[in-house]
Amino acid sequence: MIEAMTKFNIPAPSPPVPTPAKEAPTLSNGLRLAHAMEGLGRSGLRDVMELLARPGILSLAVGLPASELFPHELIAQGIGRRLANDPKNLQYTLPLRDLKARIAELMVLRGVSCRPEQIFLTSGCQQAMDLHAHLLLDPKGQVMMESSIYDGIRMVALRFDPQILTVPSDPETGIDVDAVASWLERGARPAFLYVITEGHNPLGVSISLEKRLRLVELARQYRMPILEDDTYGFLRYDGGPSLPSLHALDPEWVCYMGSFSKTIAPALRTGWTIAPEPLLQRLSVLKHASDIDAPSIGHHAVHAFLESGHFPRHLETLRTEYGRRRDAMLAALEQHMPAGVRWNRPTGGFFVWMELPRHLDAADLLRVAVETEQVAFVPGSALCAVGGSHARNCLRLCFTSCSAETIEEGVRRLGRVIKGVMAPI
Ligand SMILES: Cc1ncc(COP(=O)(O)O)c(C=O)c1O
Repeated sequence: MIEAMTKFNIPAPSPPVPTPAKEAPTLSNGLRLAHAMEGLGRSGLRDVMELLARPGILSLAVGLPASELFPHELIAQGIGRRLANDPKNLQYTLPLRDLKARIAELMVLRGVSCRPEQIFLTSGCQQAMDLHAHLLLDPKGQVMMESSIYDGIRMVALRFDPQILTVPSDPETGIDVDAVASWLERGARPAFLYVITEGHNPLGVSISLEKRLRLVELARQYRMPILEDDTYGFLRYDGGPSLPSLHALDPEWVCYMGSFSKTIAPALRTGWTIAPEPLLQRLSVLKHASDIDAPSIGHHAVHAFLESGHFPRHLETLRTEYGRRRDAMLAALEQHMPAGVRWNRPTGGFFVWMELPRHLDAADLLRVAVETEQVAFVPGSALCAVGGSHARNCLRLCFTSCSAETIEEGVRRLGRVIKGVMAPI
């Protein structure tokens, strides 16, 4: 009928306008946003960033790799050659197979034996998280993560308006696996558990082999996928053999997510995931819908650098220098912090986690620190999966972005601020 009407140019009756299911969040000018934006308020980290934007701040806050250690000249030469040699390197293209092969070789260092076809290239680890969330998480579904956690996974999950099931984490030993088991035994069925195995952000901790084995056992028993974020997995500072990644222990239930952001340069936006094979095709469709193509210039740059053979030496330089900076921070903390303040000793990653006496609020302290001593850190409450009260008296310090001398000066200033607020009035 509709077809016939169209043929004779008679307008079809307009379908009724559906009424929105519920009131959408609206800006002051009347612009209606998607419902999913409701849960996506301001990130606690944004507030910190505003304080950091003040001129002259000595920042131990943001988790930046040291830009003076970027292999920028080799990267520039590599990109230059690729572009000069072949204009097709600027074309829409398939993911770089040769880069996948290089990554598969590197994965051996993380205990993983895989074929290049199993490597799925992404725009950083962040995109890998986002794709996996789209793949696994339904709107209002359940996800499980530690209560102090990398803000990026929280932001990814929040778009699904999820039930976030949190588990505690200890700055010395990491995720509380008994708490994971308890959720599962009581019937929770999360779409995934997100875990950072090495150099946790924000806690700095790496988890024991025993915990790794128990986590994959739970994943198998309850058919719960684990998203393993191994962004810091290549950055261990104390020598000795590194523990296998979770993916090495169970390739079926663990989706591995890696990145060159911390080991080469974040602007190249090169990350990868290794997922069980049935998921790879679906990831590919999701990625295409999101950005069509990998940021292939970045991928070429990483590939050229890996091919040049400089990566192992570069990694060694990073480990030595970041290890030195970590030690400088630990020594400065020992020297400048008053009794009652505790911190951990990370074996990898970028961060030291500090606990102030219970009555102190690190967010208040940050304002005082910026005003009086121009030094900044991230308060623990800005790095919580839900709420923030459990980490109110905690803070995160980054030891990679400044020189050892600047770290010493920053900790000295922070010590003065803390002693000031702890002094009896
Ligand atoms: C734990 C963790 N995962 C992922 C990321 C994002 O990494 P990428 O730059 O590869 O997207 C970060 C960045 O700080 C991080 O700390």
